[in-house]
Amino acid sequence: MKERTVKTITLTVNRRSYSFTIGDGQNDMPENELLADTLRNRVGCTGVKLGCGQGACGACTVILNKKPVMSCMTLTLDCDEAEIVTIEGLADAATGRLSALQQSFVDHCGYQCGFCTPGVIMSAQALLEREELPTEEEVREALAGNYCRCGTHYSAVESIMAYVEQRRAAK
Ligand code: FES
Ligand code: FES
Repeated sequence: MKERTVKTITLTVNRRSYSFTIGDGQNDMPENELLADTLRNRVGCTGVKLGCGQGACGACTVILNKKPVMSCMTLTLDCDEAEIVTIEGLADAATGRLSALQQSFVDHCGYQCGFCTPGVIMSAQALLEREELPTEEEVREALAGNYCRCGTHYSAVESIMAYVEQRRAAK
């Protein structure tokens, strides 16, 4: 009988640790499982949206080891020991209060149906973690992989720039 190889991987998602066994057993994770599916179906982060599933729309964007990635194009198996942040990780864990960036989207109507919004915000968040005061051009560039079917690109950029101005004023 073929011996079953067991491998366990650990991910930190929104500051909590999760371990999964890779294999073909009933509760195991298949080797080819995508990060988007793991986050949505095993961790419960349904704010990670699946749009095209082909790396073309950015709805599934999460931050992986400080970089924005499309989780529909990422194998979970390759994320062992990675630190992942999803839209659920931005609000204050204790109070549920939205982050200032999220609040800026609310205040400036940065979305319509909201399907693309978690991905847009995570792309912006990754930029804002490496650039304190990005220019509008840098913001547009960071959002280049995020497609909005409702056409709210302009108000999304406006929401992000309003937040950048808050940061500037607080300096
Ligand atoms: Fe991942 Fe569209 S769902 S890029
Ligand atoms: Fe609807 Fe972007 S707000 S897809």
